[in-house]
Amino acid sequence: MSETPELPDEGVSRRNFLVSGTTFAMAGGLAAGYGTFAFLGARFLYQTDDGKKAWMFVTDVESLKEGDSFDYRTPEGAGVTLARKGSGKTAEDFVALSSVCPHLGCQVHWEAQNDRFFCPCHNGAFDAAGEPIAGPPKDANQPLTRFPLKVVGTLLYILVPLNVSTANASCCPSSSRNI
Ligand code: FES
Repeated sequence: MSETPELPDEGVSRRNFLVSGTTFAMAGGLAAGYGTFAFLGARFLYQTDDGKKAWMFVTDVESLKEGDSFDYRTPEGAGVTLARKGSGKTAEDFVALSSVCPHLGCQVHWEAQNDRFFCPCHNGAFDAAGEPIAGPPKDANQPLTRFPLKVVGTLLYILVPLNVSTANASCCPSSSRNI
């Protein structure tokens, strides 16, 4: 009768380690995946109580230097110029202005060399805060529409209109929450 050779303790330990290591790796991967998904969803959209507006994630405040600006598009397709005007980390250090001229709806653009927004349709102009300084918008005292901003931690959010079809078509309705 032959004896069954016993596995050395080292071999058993290594096998258990490999099995448990694989299990931990899989669990960790799943947790990381779900965690990332939840984080992306949670940071994307926060509907207001009436569901007509939503706080949308824009960027991390650290990723925008003072004086930088970029174009942002709301879920409804409206163009917004978003800029960092201060070095702090509060909403007051940023500004979000509609890039649609309030006169007749042409596209305005930022002219860094003139420190103003300019509308080529009728030579309308606005200062860096969106106040009208020339052309028909000045005559009619029509500033650029300003979008509210807020900073949560280091994340910048913008409050934008949200129609019903957009809300239903957004990426993460189940992860949205009222604030
Ligand atoms: Fe912009 Fe007329 S549409 S000035």
